[in-house]
Amino acid sequence: ARPATRPAVLILLGPPGAGKGTQARMLEERFGLVQLSTGDLLRAAVAQGTEAGRAAKAVMEAGGLVSDEIVLAILRDRMAAPDVARGVILDGFPRTDVQAAALDDLLCEAGQEVTAAIALVVDDEAMIARVAGRYTCAGCGEGYHDSFKVPARAGVCDRCGGTAFRRRADDTAETAGARLAAYHAQTAPLIAYYEGRGVLQRIDAMGTIDEIGADLADIVSRVSA
Ligand code: AP5
Repeated sequence: ARPATRPAVLILLGPPGAGKGTQARMLEERFGLVQLSTGDLLRAAVAQGTEAGRAAKAVMEAGGLVSDEIVLAILRDRMAAPDVARGVILDGFPRTDVQAAALDDLLCEAGQEVTAAIALVVDDEAMIARVAGRYTCAGCGEGYHDSFKVPARAGVCDRCGGTAFRRRADDTAETAGARLAAYHAQTAPLIAYYEGRGVLQRIDAMGTIDEIGADLADIVSRVSA
Protein backbone atom coordinates (compact mmCIF):
# COMPACT_ATOMS: atom_id res chain seq x y z
CA ALA A 1 0.00 0.00 0.00
CA ARG A 2 1.14 3.52 -0.77
CA PRO A 3 1.89 5.75 2.26
CA ALA A 4 -0.74 8.40 3.03
CA THR A 5 1.67 11.26 2.31
CA ARG A 6 3.54 10.77 -0.93
CA PRO A 7 7.23 11.65 -1.00
CA ALA A 8 7.98 14.98 -2.63
CA VAL A 9 9.67 15.06 -6.04
CA LEU A 10 11.23 18.51 -6.49
CA ILE A 11 13.13 19.62 -9.58
CA LEU A 12 15.67 22.46 -9.47
CA LEU A 13 15.98 24.03 -12.92
CA GLY A 14 18.63 26.60 -13.70
CA PRO A 15 21.79 27.28 -15.70
CA PRO A 16 25.27 26.23 -14.55
CA GLY A 17 26.21 28.18 -11.45
CA ALA A 18 22.62 29.13 -10.59
CA GLY A 19 23.07 27.57 -7.16
CA LYS A 20 21.21 24.28 -7.68
CA GLY A 21 23.79 22.18 -5.83
CA THR A 22 24.26 24.74 -3.02
CA GLN A 23 20.52 24.99 -2.43
CA ALA A 24 19.82 21.26 -2.86
CA ARG A 25 22.30 20.46 -0.07
CA MET A 26 20.63 23.04 2.20
CA LEU A 27 17.17 21.59 1.48
CA GLU A 28 18.49 18.09 2.09
CA GLU A 29 19.64 19.09 5.56
CA ARG A 30 16.54 21.09 6.40
CA PHE A 31 13.81 18.80 5.04
CA GLY A 32 15.46 15.36 5.07
CA LEU A 33 15.03 15.05 1.31
CA VAL A 34 17.63 13.27 -0.83
CA GLN A 35 19.69 15.38 -3.25
CA LEU A 36 20.02 13.56 -6.53
CA SER A 37 22.51 15.28 -8.83
CA THR A 38 23.12 13.69 -12.23
CA GLY A 39 26.31 15.80 -12.50
CA ASP A 40 27.64 14.21 -9.26
CA LEU A 41 26.57 10.72 -10.41
CA LEU A 42 28.31 11.24 -13.76
CA ARG A 43 31.48 12.59 -12.12
CA ALA A 44 31.52 9.51 -9.86
CA ALA A 45 31.19 7.27 -12.96
CA VAL A 46 34.08 9.15 -14.61
CA ALA A 47 36.23 8.76 -11.46
CA GLN A 48 35.42 5.02 -11.28
CA GLY A 49 36.22 4.58 -14.98
CA THR A 50 32.96 2.74 -15.72
CA GLU A 51 31.81 2.33 -19.34
CA ALA A 52 29.29 5.17 -18.87
CA GLY A 53 31.96 7.33 -17.24
CA ARG A 54 34.41 6.77 -20.09
CA ALA A 55 31.74 7.76 -22.61
CA ALA A 56 30.69 10.84 -20.60
CA LYS A 57 34.12 12.28 -19.76
CA ALA A 58 34.98 14.14 -22.98
CA VAL A 59 31.41 15.47 -23.40
CA MET A 60 31.42 16.88 -19.86
CA GLU A 61 34.83 18.49 -20.28
CA ALA A 62 33.62 20.19 -23.47
CA GLY A 63 30.49 21.48 -21.71
CA GLY A 64 27.98 19.48 -23.77
CA LEU A 65 25.15 17.28 -22.53
CA VAL A 66 25.80 13.58 -21.97
CA SER A 67 23.47 11.30 -23.98
CA ASP A 68 19.97 10.74 -22.65
CA GLU A 69 20.61 6.99 -22.72
CA ILE A 70 23.57 7.17 -20.30
CA VAL A 71 21.94 9.73 -18.01
CA LEU A 72 18.66 7.80 -17.80
CA ALA A 73 20.43 4.52 -17.00
CA ILE A 74 22.32 6.22 -14.14
CA LEU A 75 19.20 8.01 -12.90
CA ARG A 76 17.04 4.85 -12.91
CA ASP A 77 19.64 2.99 -10.84
CA ARG A 78 19.78 5.79 -8.29
CA MET A 79 15.98 6.16 -8.10
CA ALA A 80 15.73 2.45 -7.25
CA ALA A 81 17.68 2.92 -3.98
CA PRO A 82 15.58 2.78 -0.78
CA ASP A 83 16.54 6.25 0.57
CA VAL A 84 14.70 7.89 -2.35
CA ALA A 85 11.44 7.01 -0.56
CA ARG A 86 12.10 10.03 1.73
CA GLY A 87 11.53 12.35 -1.25
CA VAL A 88 14.03 13.79 -3.70
CA ILE A 89 15.45 17.04 -4.99
CA LEU A 90 16.51 16.50 -8.59
CA ASP A 91 19.53 18.75 -9.21
CA GLY A 92 20.52 18.97 -12.89
CA PHE A 93 17.87 16.54 -14.11
CA PRO A 94 15.87 16.56 -16.34
CA ARG A 95 17.81 18.57 -18.92
CA THR A 96 16.08 17.55 -22.17
CA ASP A 97 12.49 16.88 -23.24
CA VAL A 98 13.35 13.17 -23.57
CA GLN A 99 14.56 13.11 -19.94
CA ALA A 100 11.44 14.97 -18.73
CA ALA A 101 9.17 12.42 -20.46
CA ALA A 102 11.20 9.51 -19.05
CA LEU A 103 10.92 10.99 -15.55
CA ASP A 104 7.14 11.24 -15.91
CA ASP A 105 7.01 7.56 -16.91
CA LEU A 106 9.26 6.47 -14.07
CA LEU A 107 7.21 8.38 -11.50
CA CYS A 108 3.92 7.17 -12.97
CA GLU A 109 5.06 3.54 -12.54
CA ALA A 110 5.60 4.32 -8.84
CA GLY A 111 2.26 6.13 -8.48
CA GLN A 112 4.02 9.48 -8.09
CA GLU A 113 4.30 12.76 -9.99
CA VAL A 114 6.44 15.90 -9.97
CA THR A 115 5.52 17.94 -6.89
CA ALA A 116 7.18 21.17 -8.07
CA ALA A 117 9.73 22.34 -10.63
CA ILE A 118 11.55 25.39 -9.31
CA ALA A 119 13.31 27.63 -11.84
CA LEU A 120 16.25 29.62 -10.46
CA VAL A 121 16.22 32.81 -12.53
CA VAL A 122 19.65 34.44 -12.99
CA ASP A 123 21.80 36.54 -15.39
CA ASP A 124 24.23 34.73 -17.70
CA GLU A 125 27.21 36.99 -16.76
CA ALA A 126 26.82 36.30 -13.05
CA MET A 127 26.77 32.58 -13.78
CA ILE A 128 30.18 32.61 -15.44
CA ALA A 129 31.67 34.37 -12.37
CA ARG A 130 30.04 31.88 -10.00
CA VAL A 131 31.23 28.85 -11.93
CA ALA A 132 34.78 30.11 -12.47
CA GLY A 133 35.33 30.79 -8.72
CA ARG A 134 33.86 27.55 -7.42
CA TYR A 135 35.67 24.84 -5.44
CA THR A 136 34.56 22.03 -3.13
CA CYS A 137 35.86 20.17 -0.11
CA ALA A 138 37.47 16.91 -1.25
CA GLY A 139 36.24 15.20 1.94
CA CYS A 140 32.53 16.05 2.23
CA GLY A 141 31.75 17.86 -1.03
CA GLU A 142 30.72 21.15 0.64
CA GLY A 143 30.76 23.90 -1.98
CA TYR A 144 32.71 27.17 -1.70
CA HIS A 145 33.52 30.18 -3.86
CA ASP A 146 36.64 32.38 -4.07
CA SER A 147 34.56 35.53 -3.44
CA PHE A 148 30.99 34.60 -2.47
CA LYS A 149 31.40 31.75 0.00
CA VAL A 150 34.73 31.31 1.76
CA PRO A 151 35.32 28.99 4.75
CA ALA A 152 35.27 30.72 8.19
CA ARG A 153 38.91 29.61 8.71
CA ALA A 154 40.98 29.93 5.54
CA GLY A 155 41.76 26.52 4.05
CA VAL A 156 39.56 24.55 6.50
CA CYS A 157 36.14 23.16 5.54
CA ASP A 158 33.35 24.54 7.77
CA ARG A 159 31.46 21.29 7.59
CA CYS A 160 34.03 18.49 8.11
CA GLY A 161 37.30 20.24 9.03
CA GLY A 162 39.00 18.84 5.90
CA THR A 163 41.87 20.80 4.37
CA ALA A 164 41.90 19.39 0.81
CA PHE A 165 39.81 21.14 -1.83
CA ARG A 166 39.30 20.60 -5.55
CA ARG A 167 38.05 22.37 -8.65
CA ARG A 168 36.05 20.78 -11.47
CA ALA A 169 37.70 20.24 -14.87
CA ASP A 170 34.72 21.94 -16.57
CA ASP A 171 34.78 25.08 -14.39
CA THR A 172 36.68 27.31 -16.81
CA ALA A 173 35.22 30.47 -18.38
CA GLU A 174 35.20 28.86 -21.89
CA THR A 175 33.51 25.64 -20.85
CA ALA A 176 31.01 27.58 -18.76
CA GLY A 177 30.01 29.40 -21.99
CA ALA A 178 29.38 26.07 -23.76
CA ARG A 179 27.38 24.79 -20.76
CA LEU A 180 25.24 27.95 -20.77
CA ALA A 181 24.57 27.51 -24.49
CA ALA A 182 23.49 23.88 -23.92
CA TYR A 183 21.23 25.06 -21.10
CA HIS A 184 19.48 27.68 -23.26
CA ALA A 185 19.06 25.31 -26.23
CA GLN A 186 17.95 22.15 -24.47
CA THR A 187 16.99 22.73 -20.85
CA ALA A 188 15.37 26.19 -20.65
CA PRO A 189 12.37 24.98 -22.75
CA LEU A 190 11.46 22.67 -19.83
CA ILE A 191 10.39 25.77 -17.87
CA ALA A 192 7.42 26.15 -20.24
CA TYR A 193 6.78 22.39 -20.06
CA TYR A 194 6.39 22.45 -16.27
CA GLU A 195 4.50 25.74 -16.38
CA GLY A 196 1.96 24.06 -18.68
CA ARG A 197 1.65 21.26 -16.14
CA GLY A 198 0.87 23.79 -13.39
CA VAL A 199 3.83 22.79 -11.17
CA LEU A 200 6.30 25.59 -11.99
CA GLN A 201 7.60 28.03 -9.37
CA ARG A 202 10.10 30.80 -10.21
CA ILE A 203 12.69 32.22 -7.83
CA ASP A 204 14.92 35.26 -8.29
CA ALA A 205 18.32 33.60 -7.77
CA MET A 206 20.44 36.78 -8.01
CA GLY A 207 20.27 37.37 -4.24
CA THR A 208 22.48 35.91 -1.53
CA ILE A 209 22.64 32.16 -0.86
CA ASP A 210 20.63 32.65 2.36
CA GLU A 211 17.94 34.81 0.69
CA ILE A 212 17.41 32.23 -2.03
CA GLY A 213 17.44 29.45 0.57
CA ALA A 214 14.65 31.19 2.51
CA ASP A 215 12.50 31.58 -0.63
CA LEU A 216 13.05 27.93 -1.54
CA ALA A 217 12.26 26.71 1.96
CA ASP A 218 8.94 28.62 1.80
CA ILE A 219 8.05 26.88 -1.46
CA VAL A 220 9.08 23.44 -0.24
CA SER A 221 7.09 23.84 3.01
CA ARG A 222 4.07 24.92 0.98
CA VAL A 223 4.13 22.23 -1.72
CA SER A 224 4.92 19.34 0.59
CA ALA A 225 2.39 20.29 3.28
P1 AP5 B 1 26.21 19.62 -13.23
O1 AP5 B 1 27.12 19.07 -12.23
O2 AP5 B 1 24.75 19.44 -13.07
O3 AP5 B 1 26.59 21.13 -13.45
P2 AP5 B 1 25.73 22.42 -13.87
O4 AP5 B 1 24.31 22.25 -14.23
O5 AP5 B 1 26.58 23.04 -14.89
O6 AP5 B 1 25.53 23.10 -12.58
P3 AP5 B 1 26.65 23.50 -11.62
O7 AP5 B 1 27.01 22.37 -10.71
O8 AP5 B 1 27.78 24.14 -12.40
O9 AP5 B 1 25.99 24.71 -10.88
P4 AP5 B 1 24.97 24.80 -9.68
O10 AP5 B 1 23.70 25.41 -10.20
O11 AP5 B 1 24.85 23.49 -8.95
O12 AP5 B 1 25.70 25.89 -8.83
P5 AP5 B 1 26.45 25.79 -7.40
O13 AP5 B 1 25.44 25.59 -6.33
O14 AP5 B 1 27.60 24.84 -7.44
O15 AP5 B 1 26.56 19.03 -14.69
C1 AP5 B 1 27.89 18.96 -15.15
C2 AP5 B 1 27.90 18.29 -16.51
O16 AP5 B 1 27.40 16.94 -16.40
C3 AP5 B 1 27.02 18.94 -17.58
O17 AP5 B 1 27.69 20.00 -18.23
C4 AP5 B 1 26.73 17.74 -18.50
O18 AP5 B 1 27.83 17.47 -19.34
C5 AP5 B 1 26.60 16.59 -17.52
N1 AP5 B 1 25.21 16.37 -17.06
C6 AP5 B 1 24.74 16.47 -15.79
N2 AP5 B 1 23.43 16.18 -15.73
C7 AP5 B 1 23.06 15.88 -17.00
C8 AP5 B 1 21.82 15.53 -17.59
N3 AP5 B 1 20.68 15.42 -16.86
N4 AP5 B 1 21.79 15.30 -18.94
C9 AP5 B 1 22.92 15.40 -19.69
N5 AP5 B 1 24.13 15.75 -19.18
C10 AP5 B 1 24.19 15.99 -17.86
O19 AP5 B 1 26.99 27.28 -7.32
C11 AP5 B 1 28.05 27.71 -8.15
C12 AP5 B 1 29.04 28.58 -7.35
O20 AP5 B 1 28.42 29.82 -7.02
C13 AP5 B 1 29.49 27.95 -6.03
O21 AP5 B 1 30.84 28.26 -5.82
C14 AP5 B 1 28.60 28.61 -4.97
O22 AP5 B 1 29.28 28.73 -3.72
C15 AP5 B 1 28.33 29.98 -5.59
N6 AP5 B 1 26.98 30.45 -5.33
C16 AP5 B 1 25.84 29.70 -5.27
N7 AP5 B 1 24.77 30.49 -5.04
C17 AP5 B 1 25.26 31.79 -4.97
C18 AP5 B 1 24.66 33.06 -4.75
N8 AP5 B 1 23.35 33.19 -4.54
N9 AP5 B 1 25.46 34.15 -4.75
C19 AP5 B 1 26.80 34.03 -4.95
N10 AP5 B 1 27.43 32.83 -5.14
C20 AP5 B 1 26.67 31.73 -5.16
